[in-house]
Amino acid sequence: MSDINQTGVAGIDAQQLVARALEARKRAYVPYSHWAVGAALLTESGEIFEGCNIENAAYTPTNCAERTAFFKAVSEGERSFAAIAVVGGREHEEPKDICAPCGVCRQVMMEFCDPKRFRVILGTRDGVCVNETLEQILPYGFGPDTLA
Ligand code: THU
Repeated sequence: MSDINQTGVAGIDAQQLVARALEARKRAYVPYSHWAVGAALLTESGEIFEGCNIENAAYTPTNCAERTAFFKAVSEGERSFAAIAVVGGREHEEPKDICAPCGVCRQVMMEFCDPKRFRVILGTRDGVCVNETLEQILPYGFGPDTLA
């Protein structure tokens, strides 16, 4: 299997994780931006938590897809994560370009993941495009180890 298709968990490849993110994206609630995002968060034990963005008439309570997936998982007792796949684009269209996580979501990843090992996988309708570590997309990250 090529490096770009690795998730760090045996038996689950990046393409499979992108497929789950595309499924999650179908449930995005985006009446304001019309920008639909889906995420699939893979635990070290091989479980997958899906998330979509959920918008709000007051705008600021909006939750990104990545954070929905993290908060679902953490609230169910999960703390060990291997990778996340993210897909996004205009509602009712297939995502043709990558959608990179916002800064707030990168910071949430920093709270629960090892930045040298956790993989951020960005896909489109055509498959996996980017597979990098959290440290690569959030250099000099501030996290729990900083305060320890
Ligand atoms: N959004 C995400 O869900 N994840 C990202 O990585 C970027 C942005 C959402 C927030 C909002 O609902 C919409 O996309 C437009 O910003």
